[in-house]
Amino acid sequence: MKRIILIGYMGAGKTTLGKILARSLNLEFIDLDWYIENRFHQSVSQLFATRGEEGFRKIEQNMLHEVAEFEDVVISAGGGTPCFFDNMEYMNQQGVTVYLKATPETLRTHLRMGKQKRPLIAQKNDEELDAFIRESLDKRESYYNQARLIFDTGLLDNGTRIQEAAQMLVEKVIQSSEF
Ligand code: S3P
Repeated sequence: MKRIILIGYMGAGKTTLGKILARSLNLEFIDLDWYIENRFHQSVSQLFATRGEEGFRKIEQNMLHEVAEFEDVVISAGGGTPCFFDNMEYMNQQGVTVYLKATPETLRTHLRMGKQKRPLIAQKNDEELDAFIRESLDKRESYYNQARLIFDTGLLDNGTRIQEAAQMLVEKVIQSSEF
């Protein structure tokens, strides 16, 4: 039975790399945010608006406990998932966790385009977004660094194509004694 859980900051490429990883390893791909949206028939932004972040985090934890029971899957967690309750410890028990590590500069570039769906940053201008990424990444890294494996996505900024990067990720996961 194989279960890989991708973690990392918003915009690090968890969904994009997760899909390719799942295809390469012949596993099913599950994105935790999409799973939540399907179950609740509401977008993550709507859930934040109606239940507040606290309500969303409780739902996120419950839904994590559902998806992390599935077998032969690649799960992409939300950026905040590892940082609440005992979620990080739980994910480490349930599967091979991989931290997709990206610099604040890369995250900023990705998130300037993709901030609308993300309630924590949707209203921020470029300057506020920069500050938010730096501060929250700093706090979150102590959780992210507890992952079994760390994969530096910086190679994507240096011209490596996404398929190649995904292949390197596949190899890293296969080589790990935990898989
Ligand atoms: C969040 C990340 C989002 C989503 C929600 C909160 C966070 O997931 O769960 O907007 O706290 O970092 P992605 O990392 O998939 O954007």
